[in-house]
Amino acid sequence: MRVLGIETSCDETGIAIYDTEQGIIADALHSQVAVHAEYGGVVPELASRDHIKKTLPLIRQVLAEAKLSSEDIDAVAYTAGPGLIGALMVGACLGRALAYGWNVPALGVHHMEGHLLAPMLEEQPPEFPFVALLVSGGHTQLVDVKAIGCYEVIGESLDDAAGEAFDKAAKMLDLDYPGGPEIAKLAESGDPHRFKFPRPMVDRPGLDFSFSGLKTFTLNLIQKHTVDGPLPDPQTMADIAAGFEQAVVDTVAIKCRRALEQTGYKRLVMAGGVSANRKLRAELGQKLAAVKATVFYARPEFCTDNGAMIAYAGACRLAAGQHADLSVVAYPRWPM
Ligand code: KG4
Ligand code: ZN
Repeated sequence: MRVLGIETSCDETGIAIYDTEQGIIADALHSQVAVHAEYGGVVPELASRDHIKKTLPLIRQVLAEAKLSSEDIDAVAYTAGPGLIGALMVGACLGRALAYGWNVPALGVHHMEGHLLAPMLEEQPPEFPFVALLVSGGHTQLVDVKAIGCYEVIGESLDDAAGEAFDKAAKMLDLDYPGGPEIAKLAESGDPHRFKFPRPMVDRPGLDFSFSGLKTFTLNLIQKHTVDGPLPDPQTMADIAAGFEQAVVDTVAIKCRRALEQTGYKRLVMAGGVSANRKLRAELGQKLAAVKATVFYARPEFCTDNGAMIAYAGACRLAAGQHADLSVVAYPRWPM
């Protein structure tokens, strides 16, 4: 079986083909970073317009790359939510229409289920059950995953998502969007211990997160250390970035450890854009090895938004006998 995956929930057009025998056989991504850069964040209307321009050409491109024609596709999976409604509608309308024209099933996939399952595409995929840490621009959640489709959210952010906090802190430091990779780069030359950033919510029981305090702490530091000019000196900027990144890593690690203790599981799967962060990958691995748990994550390009994860999640749903009816569905908010 071959499933075409279409991801258009935010600012990347991701298209891929998953073959149940061979895995991902074609994968293409168009990033809209350049479109939104001058605005410092995603402009929903521009995102929809760009998806309209790019989705069909990328579908043609992956079919050509895999040396397939439309007759070789057995199902079309598209991201049905959550995300920007206009952007989602582009993938949903095209995906549903292609499936109708090709006379194959269509599947509306949950974007976060796509992220959660992306590590399954690696050479050594995790076995069920596991705890999933979903850390993206829109979500920060801990999920008890017993099987495909069997998910229970056991903790989440009460305010900003981890990626959102990275993006907002980056903006304060006058770094480009998306801010996560920019903060990580600047942090490489910084001292993570010069400033004592808080570790929010770690003293409270439970598995919920809060990241808005880190943002306020960052703003206060910037103001305090700005002597002349609009920003602190370069070394202070790097130290702020490093302190911020370390605070996120430590906080997330403490909560993940707690989630593993609570569930009794020994596997943690980390997914979503922030799981591309090198420090988080390295330190979470070390810290959880101390409690004999193994951390799994996707290759960096499958951590951020992509079509492969949607094609794969669609294939799993198809194998479970699911598919959508003829209506076009898109949910900007959609609990998992
Ligand atoms: O999963 P994703 O591509 O889109 C959403 O579903 O939101 O995640 C994007 C988020 C952005 O906030 C971005 O700043 C963050 O992931 N991100 C990172 C890194 N790469 C992307 N955050 C920290 N370190 C990174 N290396
Ligand atoms: Zn995402």
